[in-house]
Amino acid sequence: MMGNSAERLEVIPTGGPLGAEVRGIDFSQPVDSDTATALNRAWAEYQVLLFRDQDISPQDHVTASAVFGVPSAGANRAYYERQGRLPVDAIPDVPEITVISNLDHDGNPVMENEGLGSGEVVWHSDNSYVETPPAGSFLRALEVPPEGGNTSFNNQYLAYESLPGDVKARLQGLYTKQDSSRNSAGVLRQGVKKPETLEDVPGPDHPLVRVHPVTGRKALYLGRRRVFPSQYVIGWSREESEALLDFLWDHATQDRFKWTHGPWRPGDMVLWDNRCVMHHRDAHAGTHRRIMHRTQLGKEVPVAA
Ligand code: SIN
Repeated sequence: MMGNSAERLEVIPTGGPLGAEVRGIDFSQPVDSDTATALNRAWAEYQVLLFRDQDISPQDHVTASAVFGVPSAGANRAYYERQGRLPVDAIPDVPEITVISNLDHDGNPVMENEGLGSGEVVWHSDNSYVETPPAGSFLRALEVPPEGGNTSFNNQYLAYESLPGDVKARLQGLYTKQDSSRNSAGVLRQGVKKPETLEDVPGPDHPLVRVHPVTGRKALYLGRRRVFPSQYVIGWSREESEALLDFLWDHATQDRFKWTHGPWRPGDMVLWDNRCVMHHRDAHAGTHRRIMHRTQLGKEVPVAA
């Protein structure tokens, strides 16, 4: 393929509530400013972009991510570094890439490892458990199982906009604790003490409704919720907080807001916007290797609506 150019881009909407496939891009080649502008426009419009057949190096992946925001190391890496090591499958000299695999220390596929393993990864927004979560995440498939492991995305603009008016009014000015104790497969992070009470739950407070800095639209920002004690509404009683969060999580994760990518093919890359999208991964058998590389880009403090 020749170098990238904005004229050769094709943006094909999924037909679902979010997402589009972009054709005509090869991330092993430079992306000029017109092409970068067109890609960012498509990202703002569709929230999730799929690129197929990207046979690229980890460094190309980081360079491609920089088209959408400054890449940085994944927040989970710091937990391992504090223990004097890296995740078992990390790429030491490319800290911007978080390896998401189901491999054990011997490189064999397993159901559970110290990362996300082969099980279900519950709905969440990446790294919402830090003060400046990444605006975007860019995931590339290297090895995939024959079935399972599909990844779904949901449109949190629509989730917010479809709330009843009185609920929208109640959410104004509310913040929730973003539980950093466990990852999205429920595994307690390296060196973290298991919370026993709500007061023990570590993590920053983020607004429940945030404004997207590019589109100006409001989105529901639930972030993450694990087994109790976990996320809670700041300043509310336990009962009130659990009731509101039960309602909002049920509302936000309805199928009508969702589009699913799968089955993944090696070379697929999916970019999503953590400011207005949550994602979820189906379980798959722990008998086949699944190896994905993910970058995080554009750290931002969530802006309350
Ligand atoms: C994630 O970023 O939460 C993992 C998604 C996946 O493994 O498909």
